[in-house]
Amino acid sequence: MCGVFGYVGNPSNVGETVLAALKTLEYRGYDSWGLALATPDDLMVHKDVGRINGHVRSYPRSNQGIGHTRWATHGGVQAVNSHPHLDCFRRIAVVHNGIIENHAELRQQLVQRGHRLESETDSDVVAHLVEEELASGSVLGAAVATVFSLLEGYNAIVVMDRVEQQFAATKRVSPLVLGRSDRGSTVASDAIALSDHADELIYLEDDQLALLSADSVRVFDRSSMRQISPVSVAQLDEKAMVTLAGYPDFLSKEVAEQPAALRRLVSEGRKEIEKLAQAIATAEKVIVTGCGTAGNAALAGAYLLEEICGRTVTMIPASEFRYRSRTLDSKSLVIALSQSGETVDVLDAVTDAKQRGAKLAAIVNTPMSTLDRTVETRVLLRAGPEQCVLATKSYTTMLATLVLAAHAVDDHWSTGSNLVLRAADAIETLLLNGCRQRIGEVANRIAAEEHLFVIGRGPHYPSALEAALKIKEVSYIHAEGFAAGELKHGVIALVEPGTPCLVLAPNDATRTDVLSGAAELRSRGGYVIGVGGTGDDVFDDFIEIPEAGLADVIVEAVPGQLLGYFAAMARGNDPDRPRNLAKSVTVK
Ligand code: AGP
Repeated sequence: MCGVFGYVGNPSNVGETVLAALKTLEYRGYDSWGLALATPDDLMVHKDVGRINGHVRSYPRSNQGIGHTRWATHGGVQAVNSHPHLDCFRRIAVVHNGIIENHAELRQQLVQRGHRLESETDSDVVAHLVEEELASGSVLGAAVATVFSLLEGYNAIVVMDRVEQQFAATKRVSPLVLGRSDRGSTVASDAIALSDHADELIYLEDDQLALLSADSVRVFDRSSMRQISPVSVAQLDEKAMVTLAGYPDFLSKEVAEQPAALRRLVSEGRKEIEKLAQAIATAEKVIVTGCGTAGNAALAGAYLLEEICGRTVTMIPASEFRYRSRTLDSKSLVIALSQSGETVDVLDAVTDAKQRGAKLAAIVNTPMSTLDRTVETRVLLRAGPEQCVLATKSYTTMLATLVLAAHAVDDHWSTGSNLVLRAADAIETLLLNGCRQRIGEVANRIAAEEHLFVIGRGPHYPSALEAALKIKEVSYIHAEGFAAGELKHGVIALVEPGTPCLVLAPNDATRTDVLSGAAELRSRGGYVIGVGGTGDDVFDDFIEIPEAGLADVIVEAVPGQLLGYFAAMARGNDPDRPRNLAKSVTVK
């Protein structure tokens, strides 16, 4: 949520460099954006509202620049609220990711002391507080350390000083990564933005502060300001993976990448998944957690682990974790699922579990993310960067990891891997043949509707939640998923003649009962759309998908993804950047 970037180095087209980096960070927030460049005696500032992609502009030559893509928390979506925020003397430019919980109090004090704060955000207090520290004789690093100690909440700040030609960067929970090359020094919220600028990366830790100048990156312990030697890691070359490669949008690209991602997980992930299985086998209590799509995968995992290896697993949504964690202890295993590895609710859940002595594991897609660096046991999804706000390939690879781990608990790796490979083949077939077109036709039929319901039973109940989430977040149709048996306990009151109802009806133990639910919907005039391997008379419409046995849950994710996509296109919505959302939710 919010992307920050800073560069200091050889004098060059820094404006274009910042703009290019912000384009790669736009997934973190696309309400507005802005940048500031150091010029000989001023800061050049450009702020704008809306999408940054496609933006071309020339800027003055500079050797230092800072930029930000915003997901609004405080203050409306207006240029004035875009970052960077400046101090009264236009020496300091600040970009911020997070929420300064005590900003109102700090703002009031600054105004009383005569500062002019131009925006409605919580962020601009930082520029003015640093201004005061510098005026009282502090150097940049000490000034920012002092100011950061005044801020409450989870925050990452980067402060550009055009006089000292340096950046100071520091953080609590919200991520920051530093880069260094012979051309200069860089800082960003995500390593993807540093692809062209860094040979090695340093992931800043919560108690550290970094100072960056054209020829050095130095890291300090924030409280003592003693210099330390941070661990640096090689830059992963992921740039090629964040281009559209001929696809019209990232959603289409990432849906199409699923078969390859599933096969890669099977061929490369065995060691990590077997280690996770071992942790599951030895734990007294197993809890799975995550948010949104990852939460749906976690819930599916609870069903799968119970069905495949007989383990009782509790799913707790990460944002609710702290209210249900009292009974955790050193015999508990908490498995956190996250694409980004930066979702604050997930990180909070993991911190809570750690404080209670529980063992920690993660199923995560982003290498070197905070979650990846925090846990003892982790499975990397290897799905490649997911740029579209909608989680697609991360969801199906999370499910695959759980299918594989559940089988590995009893040493049945090959049974699990055959299932996942079967799912990969099934998705490939589904995407290649007329099935994709069929889903497009169904989507066009439902695109004008206001409400839609999805039902499933057993492990297909989380699939129903996930299909509804995919459809609603990109098409804005109000879609809800339910456990089919719950329909008659209230939900069915919402069904009117013509209401589209998606029924997940695979050929397994859930089929007979889910078809009864479908019949109840049809009797009330619902427009019943079946999804599964075999049709039935109760369906008004049918999306046939190839069967994959216990891995059906993986395959049946795809119709929901494509229904959302096609309905969004029919409604003229941006499939990659739905309104009000951001890819990485780093605020509470
Ligand atoms: C999925 O399509 C969402 N946009 C969202 O629910 C997402 O899954 C959630 O925010 C969790 O993100 P994470 O996997 O990066 O933790």
